[in-house]
Amino acid sequence: MRGVTRRFGQMVALEKVDLEIAAGEFIALVGPSGCGKTTLLRMVADLATPSAGEILVGGASPRQARQARQLGLVSQRPAVLPWKSALADVTFTKQIARRPGYPSAGLLQDFGLAGHEYKRPGELSGGMLQRVNIASAISHDPDVLLMDEPFSALDEMRREEIGDWLGEELRKRPKTVLFVTHHIDEAVVLADRLVVFSRSPGRVLDIVEIGSPRPRTQSFRSDPRFVRAAAHVRGLLSGATSKRHAEG
Ligand SMILES: Nc1ncnc2c1ncn2[C@@H]1O[C@H](COP(=O)(O)OP(=O)(O)O)[C@@H](O)[C@H]1O
Ligand SMILES: [Mg+2]
Repeated sequence: MRGVTRRFGQMVALEKVDLEIAAGEFIALVGPSGCGKTTLLRMVADLATPSAGEILVGGASPRQARQARQLGLVSQRPAVLPWKSALADVTFTKQIARRPGYPSAGLLQDFGLAGHEYKRPGELSGGMLQRVNIASAISHDPDVLLMDEPFSALDEMRREEIGDWLGEELRKRPKTVLFVTHHIDEAVVLADRLVVFSRSPGRVLDIVEIGSPRPRTQSFRSDPRFVRAAAHVRGLLSGATSKRHAEG
């Protein structure tokens, strides 16, 4: 991303975002509500375009990346269709993508959903539903996985559980991940780097490198690197809130 700005009318949602992400990196985008996280993800996904600046995905435009089926998107609101079984949902995504991808049944099994393949969304728990969502998003084996607050509907314990699971899953099927969250601890446990955004108009306040190999689990919370990074990001974000008027 080079100088990426997005305006809605007079309102500046994102201002001059510069960010270079390596293949296979896990990047968390954190910042207060309304700072433009979803907007940024949507631009990478080719669902919106920058007002200024440029986004490249593996050297290509987001449009080309989307057309080459290199992107997987997990939305905040589950994209599953209420009448579709878990298996049908995963297979459906893959058919649209017209790529062989991963075998659907095997993927669901790997995701701990064996025996639930024919259940519909209403018959699955929140955690299971999100795993079906993620299975659908990666079923065509995209290089890039875009996740917008994927665990925000889950209670804290489920959220930690599924976070650990995702970390382990990515070890088996490595992806370049852009993960939006406003949950600082979650971001520090999961990501290689945290991109911290200011309050609207969203600007990059800092990029924080965690400097510890992935996958990590919740036990990382007692690691000095976790403690330091989480405290630093909290400091940045509370500053972003209280000083926004002073800075103009
Ligand atoms: N399609 C749109 N039209 C007008 N304003 C929008 C649109 N999408 C987002 N915004 C505004 O842009 C800002 C950033 O929104 P968003 O990217 O959803 O923030 P976040 O995901 O960080 O909470 C907000 O003020 C939001 O109201
Ligand atoms: Mg959002």
